[in-house]
Amino acid sequence: MIGTVVRYEPRGAARELLECRDAEVLIAGPAGTGKSLAMLFKLHASCLAVPGLRALLVRQTHASLTGTTLVTFERAVAQEAMSAGLVRWFGGSARQPAAYRYANGSEILVGGLDRPEKFLSSEFDRIAVDEATEITEMALETLISRLRGTAPTYKQIVCACNPSYPTHWIKLRSDRGAMVMLHSRHADNPAYVRADGGLTAAGQDYMAKLQALTGVRKLRLAEGRWAAAEGVIYELFDPGAHVIPRFDVPAGWPRWLSVDFGYTNPLVCQDWREDPDGRLYLVAELYRTRRLVEDHAKDILRMLADGPRPRAVVCDHDAEDRATLERHLGMSTVAAKKTVSDGIQAVQSRLKLAGDGRPRLFLVEGALVERDPDLVDAKRPTCTEEELPGYIWAIKPGGALKEEPHKENDHGCDALRYVVAERDLGVRPNIRWF
Ligand SMILES: Nc1ncnc2c1ncn2[C@@H]1O[C@H](COP(=O)(O)OP(=O)(O)O)[C@@H](O)[C@H]1O
Ligand SMILES: [Mg+2]
Repeated sequence: MIGTVVRYEPRGAARELLECRDAEVLIAGPAGTGKSLAMLFKLHASCLAVPGLRALLVRQTHASLTGTTLVTFERAVAQEAMSAGLVRWFGGSARQPAAYRYANGSEILVGGLDRPEKFLSSEFDRIAVDEATEITEMALETLISRLRGTAPTYKQIVCACNPSYPTHWIKLRSDRGAMVMLHSRHADNPAYVRADGGLTAAGQDYMAKLQALTGVRKLRLAEGRWAAAEGVIYELFDPGAHVIPRFDVPAGWPRWLSVDFGYTNPLVCQDWREDPDGRLYLVAELYRTRRLVEDHAKDILRMLADGPRPRAVVCDHDAEDRATLERHLGMSTVAAKKTVSDGIQAVQSRLKLAGDGRPRLFLVEGALVERDPDLVDAKRPTCTEEELPGYIWAIKPGGALKEEPHKENDHGCDALRYVVAERDLGVRPNIRWF
């Protein structure tokens, strides 16, 4: 291609990915090993090399794609080709999906699986899925059925992900040989590890961050292991059953807000709706660190602008934060019932599948209003859904489990418990009879 030089040093699994021609391939490994970059680089290089290639780049949600994956694509992969005018960004229209359009007729359509209407009717030569553990196996199979492009090149879907729990469908799919798994390592990333094996300055910073992680997040993101958390509290939580697509919430359903305060830890505010059978749906969530309560109040008011007035705002006990929040919301709040074990049991019984095969508590896809970049950076959970699989019992010095949760990455789980306790545990004035 005239006028464009693509500088990229592929190592290890990144090199294997460039050469791989299998129809289904997964590049997996710890965080920061260059998985996304390798996948994006291959996509870009293929578009430059094969005129008229049709590609699709997806993630579970549109917001996460534009917020991270496309930023990497434009900054680290396609920058020179874009400034040379060989690739142009097309923002999409009512009928056409957003895309990178190449001067040679190649095209990369981009989108989130939460809004598949525009691209799923197309046929592709190559598909790339970032953070592929977030999508369902059914979605993967739908994508595979679209690999029917006509450009003169092999058809391939490339997935990239960090390890998840050991029985995740994508791991099982690789174990049974349906998908080739390439193992990416930090040594594959020249931005962090020099050719002699030593760490670069950026690599030192990044590895320190990974070493500071704890529990199952450390095993997965620092060591790259498909590890299960031990002592998980909500073992019944299953994204397949409890996370559901967005829907139009009927205006008459009661609304509950639930708040857990924090500053260096996130303040979490959850917007719950209740259907006529008493099922609860988390439809929106604020989850942000380093903001004053009065600034959170503005976000909460924005969240409340739409839909009915909440029946109650159930809050964590901090008296000062509650007073500030009440003043800025112009609403009263109620103190959450804070006893932990009955609250946890109440949540567990809602997670169970009821007689109709459905649980009584749901998280709606894309509930998170805005992802906190500091939490992303620190590799901490950025919403309640991400907390749940790592919400574990505290461990006694001898190794036995305590009857109380480990107090870390528990803020959304606390808010969730408050709303369930409010609904199910009949908060009554504490009257004693003698
Ligand atoms: N081969 C490479 N050359 C230069 N920089 C790289 C390379 N691979 C990865 N990087 C950089 O390292 C960082 C982490 O890469 P990324 O692909 O986001 O990792 P992962 O998806 O494995 O978490 C990014 O800033 C990326 O640009
Ligand atoms: Mg990545």
